[in-house]
Amino acid sequence: MGFCSPVCKILRRAKYFVLLFLSLSVLAWIATFSGETVKSPQETLTATETLVKGDSLRDKLNSWTTTPDRANTPTPKGKCLKESPLLQGSVKLSFESSLKLKDVVSENDAVAEGEYEPPGCVARQSVAILIPHRNRERHLLYLLHHLHPFLQRQQLHYAIYIIQQAGDKTFNRAKLLNAGYLEALKDYNWDCFIFHDVDLVPENDHNLYVCDKQPKHLVVGRNATGYKLRYKGYFGGVTAMTKEQFLKVNGFSNTYWGWGGEDDDLRIRVELQKMMIVRPPTDVGRYTMVFHKRDSGNEINKDRMRLLGRTRQVWRKDGLNSCSYKTLSVERLPLYVNVTVDIVLLELEEELCCSSRRHCITLRTCTQIFHNGPAAR
Ligand SMILES: *[C@@H]1O[C@H](CO)[C@@H](O)[C@H](O)[C@H]1NC(C)=O
Ligand SMILES: *[C@@H]1O[C@H](CO)[C@@H](O)[C@H](O)[C@H]1NC(C)=O
Repeated sequence: MGFCSPVCKILRRAKYFVLLFLSLSVLAWIATFSGETVKSPQETLTATETLVKGDSLRDKLNSWTTTPDRANTPTPKGKCLKESPLLQGSVKLSFESSLKLKDVVSENDAVAEGEYEPPGCVARQSVAILIPHRNRERHLLYLLHHLHPFLQRQQLHYAIYIIQQAGDKTFNRAKLLNAGYLEALKDYNWDCFIFHDVDLVPENDHNLYVCDKQPKHLVVGRNATGYKLRYKGYFGGVTAMTKEQFLKVNGFSNTYWGWGGEDDDLRIRVELQKMMIVRPPTDVGRYTMVFHKRDSGNEINKDRMRLLGRTRQVWRKDGLNSCSYKTLSVERLPLYVNVTVDIVLLELEEELCCSSRRHCITLRTCTQIFHNGPAAR
């Protein structure tokens, strides 16, 4: 060391400086590097974005070049999903007294003559909704207002039929529904029929208006009964049966005039065919019943218990195959098809005829109407 010259001293100092410089630059490098790692995800993101942009541009170019092909052969629509992505569950219902028919028409511009098909996919079932009607225009308006969007969210091919009873003789819901079934089949070979009271509005769109392997009862509860089933075996209000199930039980009885009994009669028919009634869960099968007084012309049917006692004996002869009616008009309005039927006239003829015990078979019955119609089978 003693030999170290001043030059040597300078060199030694320089060595320290070099060391110091090196360590400082290492520190500086570490600092910049960590800064970059923070920044880098953003950079990767922009990079992938450009990639995606490039891809979609390529897709566009592809689609432009393949457009002529597509125009020649339109891509077939796929079947709608089992659970529609449009369902909302329980929805708030409104019953505004200011609601007008034209409002409901403009809300549903995809509906034509009461019929609708989902635009993006092929519906899983084609469903005819049959609503027996007389003098309930306000209820009908509320129902149409809620039912059209409800059915569209379920992605169904459907049509709404109002079966209007002509005249003012006692109402006969069941016979109107028989006539509605036969009339609707003249338009289209529907898979499924929903027999729907005009004053019941569904609250939850998971309550699917489609048919099952067994007849389905959709009104588990309504606000008027605290959302409980009215009684065990109740099969009224809104029910769903396939074309075949309804044919198998020979439809409804035609003999229930006035309120009550016809739905229990249908249940007996279903049970006689060894079919089982299915229902949606309680939280789904919920309805709001719009308030009304009992209509005149639809008084309680005092004869219903007696009639129910003979269902087993008469169901083969009393039903779809013996329903005599006359179609007075079929009006195809924007939101529904209005089928007006006279179900009384021929009934009176039948009574007259049968009371004389002669020539009952000469009457024009549903069977004949059925076999003469375009949907005859
Ligand atoms: C059920 O709800 C409807 C509509 O809000 C109302 O008109 C009717 O009175 C209610 N019925 C009962 C029993 O609460
Ligand atoms: C159905 O048509 C009949 C006969 O034109 C008419 O009297 C009735 O008011 C109509 N009903 C509905 C709900 O449009």
